[in-house]
Amino acid sequence: MAIHCYENISKNVKKLFKLDTIDTSYVIGVVDEEMFLGHIYYGALLNDYHVAHTLRILENPFIPSQYNRDRVSFLDSFPMEYPAHGLGDYREDCISIVAENGSTGLSMQYVSHKIWKGKPELLHLPAAFGREDECTSLEILCEDACTGLQAALLYTVFEETGVMTRSVRIMNKGKGDIYLTKAFSACLDMDNKDFEALSLHGSWARERHIQRVPVSHGKFSVESVRGESSHQDHPFMALCTRGTNQEQGEVYAMHFVYSGNFKVSVQNSQFDQIRMVMGIHPDDFKWKLEPGEEFQAPEVVMVYSSRGLGKMTRTFHDFYRKHLIRSSYRDKKRPVLINNWEATYFDFNTEKLLAIAKQASLLGIEMLVMDDGWFGNRYDDNRALGDWIVNEEKLPGGLKYLVEEVNKLGMKFGIWMEPEMISPDSDLYREHPDWAIAIPGREGSLCRNQYVLDFSRRDVLDHTYESIAKILRSANIEYVKWDMNRQLTDIGSACLPPDRIGELYHRYVLGVYELQERMLEEFPYLLLENCSGGGARFDPGMLYYSPQIWCSDDTDAIERLKIQEGTALIYPLSTMGAHVSDCPNHAVGRTTPFETRGHVALSGTFGYELDVTKIPAKDRRMIPKQVEMYHKYNNLVREGDYYRIASYSENHYYDCYGVVSKDKKEALYTFVQVLNVPNYRSRRIYFKGLDPERKYKVEGEKGVYTGDVLMKAGYLVENLEGDFKSRLIHIVGN
Ligand code: GLA
Repeated sequence: MAIHCYENISKNVKKLFKLDTIDTSYVIGVVDEEMFLGHIYYGALLNDYHVAHTLRILENPFIPSQYNRDRVSFLDSFPMEYPAHGLGDYREDCISIVAENGSTGLSMQYVSHKIWKGKPELLHLPAAFGREDECTSLEILCEDACTGLQAALLYTVFEETGVMTRSVRIMNKGKGDIYLTKAFSACLDMDNKDFEALSLHGSWARERHIQRVPVSHGKFSVESVRGESSHQDHPFMALCTRGTNQEQGEVYAMHFVYSGNFKVSVQNSQFDQIRMVMGIHPDDFKWKLEPGEEFQAPEVVMVYSSRGLGKMTRTFHDFYRKHLIRSSYRDKKRPVLINNWEATYFDFNTEKLLAIAKQASLLGIEMLVMDDGWFGNRYDDNRALGDWIVNEEKLPGGLKYLVEEVNKLGMKFGIWMEPEMISPDSDLYREHPDWAIAIPGREGSLCRNQYVLDFSRRDVLDHTYESIAKILRSANIEYVKWDMNRQLTDIGSACLPPDRIGELYHRYVLGVYELQERMLEEFPYLLLENCSGGGARFDPGMLYYSPQIWCSDDTDAIERLKIQEGTALIYPLSTMGAHVSDCPNHAVGRTTPFETRGHVALSGTFGYELDVTKIPAKDRRMIPKQVEMYHKYNNLVREGDYYRIASYSENHYYDCYGVVSKDKKEALYTFVQVLNVPNYRSRRIYFKGLDPERKYKVEGEKGVYTGDVLMKAGYLVENLEGDFKSRLIHIVGN
């Protein structure tokens, strides 16, 4: 068993839980007569459980059962496993309520626990999964005796991957209604090791840029109240000891398996103790629990690395590939697709699409994806969302004809949809104006001229599902790009009673999950790609449904270096939607070589987003070669270990990263010379991840070098003459 419970460790520590993976330990104590749950240790694997002496309790003069004079001092400094609101712990808490009498304070004390092999599913939520021989779970039941509110804290350790997941189920076992006003999923209380907080930020077209700031006194938080995980902030935080780099330093990371409002914060207390917490954002959150009802808070994935960010990255990659992505496409090459968005925008018809498909099929492209504009009177982005009926003016003969013609070319067919939305100018809205999320009596704020559907309503969910399914049943559609192009505002509903409006944000996310689950049940062969105005819903919750997510509407190869660096910090390359597009680039107006665009897109899912009938002939001629490279390298890229070697965001001149096969027999390094430097002959690259003893040959070159030499003495990449140039370096071992 990877989880053990030890009894009566000392006078004050009644129980001790030790949760081990192959290289980490996590230790929890049940403390004092009142059975407080305290955090004792998280970090590198401990070979013994005698660690309770490190709990800051003996030095605390105010242990409640012994000297309750200053209980607040105890509560305000004790490292809590699941801190509650209002009774003396002034740091950021994990749970708060409004009880029947209007009070808000509570305290969660240990009641019982159970340990078992495997991991339960979380009701209506995406969550990591594992077989009984892969993971072990611990559930600690706690209770607030005064209100009867219980919390079941679930911990699961995945022994081989070194990961721990946490979530919380909250149950009203009392006699009166309780409103949950905050229900976070995880907390980590520990000493400050001179930490820096690493997080991901951005905007539309520049998602997930890496930021690192020192953790100082006060609170630093990363959050979204936009109804989705967002372009702006990402549900992730890593605390790194100062000086942490790819190879060295300690890292404590939390990542939220959720696609809605979130908050993750770190606070440095008066005693230089750190508290990091993560959960659904408490703003506008108020969940009513009648007696007997329960609330499931989403899951947090926790990774500890004692060997820098690189180790953290590879742990997340392995974990998501093995324990979160369910799609049958997870371990398969995805068809090389061509998407018509940047090629035509709304101005297309069957003829144009078939011309693109015909040309594309000759070049080796395997799937045509028809983007926005095929339904209702959708001639621009001002109308028709919700009217999921094929526009036969654009597509005479309907979808069936188009898809059959595409199939005849030997290509698959995929389609774009934005099921969560409703345009004011749509038949759906004219018929059901109350189906949009809105505050009754107040005109809603438009965004891209659209509103969001009220997924807290069963009728809206069922209608939306049928509209999607009808389209998918009507032709041989093998891929769906599920888009979401505006964030939520005007939180109000025509159906939810006033005391449940605070449930809308979360119910909305549950609705999205339900629709995707139903869709995949009925169409299990579908390749689903989630998307949100580019990469605003790139989160682990979505990965549970779709093995790939559109990374950004910015397809410029140079901008993509930063976006893909930040994304690949946590997500496997196989999940990053990446396409070669035309130049000047539509987001930044930059012109880069077609070759570089191909090299950068190869480290994602790979595809095209351009009018292949119109691009320069010399670019078009490169496509078969690029497709060949995709087929040659994709198994390695999809399944290998990722190493960051140089970062253009940091050095402003060049970028380099590599993927090494698990058996270390093969590696592919991508080098991009963003800006040339005069009178500079070559860059020395220190390869990473190779087997030091193995001999490797660089493809296209004569010499054979040991991994040791390539990693320690390096490899010289010649000056590529010019800006935005790139080179792939493929090496094969004996
Ligand atoms: C979003 C997506 C784009 C495209 C458009 C269509 O912005 O990210 O790729 O599908 O919507 O409206």
